[in-house]
Parts: sequence; C-alpha cells; structure tokens
Amino acid sequence: MSFTGKVAVVTGGSSGMGAATVRALASAGAQVNLIDIDRKGAEGIAQETGSEVFIGDVSNSEFCDQTLNSIVDAQGQIDILVNAAGIILRADALETNDDNWRRIMAVNVDGVFFMCRSVLRHMVNAKSGVIVNFGSIWGNVAGAGVTAYCVSKGAVHQLTKALALEHAENGIRVNAVAPGEVNTPMIKSGRDKPPTVDELQDLANRTIPIKRLAEPEEIAEVVLFLASERSSYMTGSIIPVDAGYTAR
Ligand SMILES: NC(=O)c1ccc[n+]([C@@H]2O[C@H](COP(=O)([O-])OP(=O)(O)OC[C@H]3O[C@@H](n4cnc5c(N)ncnc54)[C@H](O)[C@@H]3O)[C@@H](O)[C@H]2O)c1
Repeated sequence: MSFTGKVAVVTGGSSGMGAATVRALASAGAQVNLIDIDRKGAEGIAQETGSEVFIGDVSNSEFCDQTLNSIVDAQGQIDILVNAAGIILRADALETNDDNWRRIMAVNVDGVFFMCRSVLRHMVNAKSGVIVNFGSIWGNVAGAGVTAYCVSKGAVHQLTKALALEHAENGIRVNAVAPGEVNTPMIKSGRDKPPTVDELQDLANRTIPIKRLAEPEEIAEVVLFLASERSSYMTGSIIPVDAGYTAR
C-alpha cells in the first residue's frame, strides 16, 4: 500500500498502536502529523519517522481545531485521520468517582468527537477523506471492572457509524478497529502492579482463542487497510481484530 502524497494525522502516536500506525504510514510514504499529550514519546517517534509533532490534549476542542487548521494551512489538506489516543480506568461502577468517569469520557469520547468534527470541516470541503477510530472489544461486549471504559468505547463505535452515514455522500469514509488485548503500555496501566509476562500469558490462555496478545503492528496493518483505497467500499464498519475474542 502506498500513501505517497497523503497527509495523515494520528492521535496517540507517541506509544503503542498509535506509534505503530505512525511508523507504518510513514514507511508507506505518508506525511504524518503526530498528536499526543506525551512530548518525550512523541519526539522519539518523530525523530525515527520524520513526523511533525503537535503536543496537546485531544479533550480540548480548541486545541483540536487550531492544530488541524494549522496542518491544513501548512500542508494543504488532511487525507487521513487516525484517532488512537485513549486511556483506561480499571474500576467497576462503585469504584468510579465523578472525576474518573468524566476524564475517561473526555479523552475517549470527547477527544475522538472533537478531532472528527475538526477534520470533517476540511474533508467536506475537499469532498474526500478517511477516518479510522480506535474502538475496542469492550465496545462490542462488556467486561466487569472496566465500566467507564466499556461505555466510552461503545460510544466510539456509535460515533463511527453515525459519522459514516452523515458523510457517505461527501466522499468521506469512517470506520473503526476494535482490538482485543494488545501488547502496549496500556495493558499494564491502571493496575495495582504491572502484570508479569507469565500473568499476561495466563490471561491469554484463559481468554483469547489464539492464546497470545496482539502486537501493535498487527493492529496497524488493519488501520492502514482501512485508511487505504483498498477498503473503498467500507464505511461505518467496526472491525474486530481480536483473535476470535468476540466470536463466541
Ligand atoms: N492495549 C489494548 O489492549 C487496547 C485494546 C483495545 C483498544 N485499545 C485502544 O487503542 C488505542 C491505543 O491504545 P494503546 O494500547 O496503544 O495505548 P497507549 O497507552 O500505548 O497509547 C495511548 C496514547 O494516547 C496518548 N494520550 C492519552 N491521553 C491523551 C490525550 N488526552 N490527548 C492526547 N494524547 C493522549 C498517550 O500519551 C499515549 O501516547 C486507545 O484508544 C485504546 O483505548 C487498546
């Protein structure tokens, strides 16, 4: 897949699947713009891939608007938006306080909505564009002990479908990947202590039909497919990339 001449924006590009997507798009020839709240991580990936870096919080709509406007001013267009920025809260409903609930919704739902709304203003003018959102297995099925996260990812799936319908006639496609358990820093975050390799393998043996975690690059492959012309007849789709987790 060649992305030569394409301008891409990837949120959450400093780490995990966002970083894998930045690397894959850059090596396929795209001009990549990386948006993240983590400056150190972003600068490392940018040095490696030649991406432009924009540091800020996607839950701030002014930041989203200003950043995307400045990218269009400088680079002429945005062909591809990938929304990978996200956070997890490992807490059941009774353990979730107001601030935690609002923060999960702010980053995982508002952040995706603000970025989509900002980019759509440009894509509607151009009458073309592709958006790929990061949903989750937890947007398709629920899990105990991750209430707010499940709700946020369900919202991302519905946002993806609504935007796909609203913009199908504008030449804009909107899809999402719904990964299973992926070997990124997120799998270790929000726990009392980070799981050991053996504990993660035990989790995989118990819950994942293929019996291993995904590597971030395996998800980025699907993101690139959805971002490319090869998926020209796909919009409004939520694609599980979960080793059969939700096939049951
Ligand atoms: N790891 C998994 O098992 C898994 C499974 C399914 C879905 N997901 C989703 O995939 C996406 C990528 O996850 P990952 O595992 O690569 O996570 P990660 O923690 O490795 O990376 C997330 C990135 O988002 C950035 N970020 C967080 N809050 C931000 C904010 N407010 N503004 C800008 N950037 C922000 C972080 O700095 C980080 O670089 C997330 O949306 C996550 O919810 C992860």
